[in-house]
Amino acid sequence: MSNFVVTDRVEGELAAVIRSLAVDRVFVLVDENTAEHCLPILRHETRDVRHETRDVRHEMRDEKCVMEDAKVIIIKAGDEVKTIDTAVAIWGELVDSGATRSSLLVNVGGGVVTDLGGFVAATFKRGMRFVNVPTTLLGVVDAATGGKTGINFRGLKNEIGAFANPEKVLIDTHFFETLDFRNRLSGYAEMVKHALIADPILLEQTLAYDLDKFDMSRLATLLKQNLQIKESIVAVDLNETGVRKTLNFGHTVGHAFESLSYELNSPMLHGFAVMWGMVAELYLSFLKLKLDKKLVSKILAFAKEYYGAFPYTCKQYDRLYELMMHDKKNSGGQINFTLLAGVGDVRINQNVTKEEVFEALDFIREN
Ligand SMILES: NC(=O)c1ccc[n+]([C@@H]2O[C@H](COP(=O)([O-])OP(=O)(O)OC[C@H]3O[C@@H](n4cnc5c(N)ncnc54)[C@H](O)[C@@H]3O)[C@@H](O)[C@H]2O)c1
Ligand SMILES: [Zn+2]
Repeated sequence: MSNFVVTDRVEGELAAVIRSLAVDRVFVLVDENTAEHCLPILRHETRDVRHETRDVRHEMRDEKCVMEDAKVIIIKAGDEVKTIDTAVAIWGELVDSGATRSSLLVNVGGGVVTDLGGFVAATFKRGMRFVNVPTTLLGVVDAATGGKTGINFRGLKNEIGAFANPEKVLIDTHFFETLDFRNRLSGYAEMVKHALIADPILLEQTLAYDLDKFDMSRLATLLKQNLQIKESIVAVDLNETGVRKTLNFGHTVGHAFESLSYELNSPMLHGFAVMWGMVAELYLSFLKLKLDKKLVSKILAFAKEYYGAFPYTCKQYDRLYELMMHDKKNSGGQINFTLLAGVGDVRINQNVTKEEVFEALDFIREN
């Protein structure tokens, strides 16, 4: 059975999940933005029920009741709070409020909240149950699904963490109405990635979607197919020993772009880094695996249309290469790339030379 539900009435779905889990207490983790924009939806504060039938109103009253004495824990927004100090503060609130192993933590937010909340839940009393309600598109397609939780440590992203699966991931595109365009684009890059590694037809549909209009119901349809791709891969390899590495496509170069952006104090959103990383790795796929060059140019054109100008110059190539060498996923002193021989034809553990990496960066800048 699927671990995620795509719904257009997340508050009802959450109440049903809470009831089915027979928990003794509900805790809700939000950041300051999701406290403002997303929590009211889950608390039934946004829907006008006056015109609903009596039965529906009663049902909604019962649902609302489930959330009424949930304890809300609010953290600041932003990746800087994904630290052990914030985890300590949340563990503290759980202890002070008498949370037990039978309590439930509901993480309502983007990747920062679901990574941190998942980590806190996985470690509290050796593991309490948690539900993810991702409110960013990146959270939906990447962070909240797949069982990776964690915190940053000594400036290293996601250095400490655990694999832990939420009881359910509840997805509602209504949340994206308050999400800014850049964060929408950031998540969309991961949707392009899933289509590239799995399905030529879905790729065509994903590239044809009008990101400026951002039609939510069309997005929900694309999302369902997209999430199935990730779920089917993670199901056979939770701990990333084999096929899950296909999900790293775009991320070896992408993480280097992301890390450099932090070093330069001009943070790049994860999905933007992944989009440019995918272009570089598609070019490497063309060099090593004879991937059709037309596909590489097509994704480059998509990246340029929506993701702005590529920010780096050849002065940064050496540093970028060093950062790729430090990737957690390497082994034996070699950078392990995940490349494509075609759409849906993924090859893991591919090695390329430094010159080839530089050529791929040239390709992004010069075309
Ligand atoms: N666990 C994984 O597999 C995985 C995968 C990818 C990324 N991540 C992690 O996810 C994090 C990035 O996630 P993100 O891009 O969702 O960032 P985020 O959680 O920081 O959210 C981005 C911003 O949007 C705000 N926000 C969230 N939902 C909103 C809504 N509905 N309306 C208005 N504002 C809203 C947040 O408060 C924040 O300011 C990073 O820490 C990254 O390491 C984890
Ligand atoms: Zn990613």
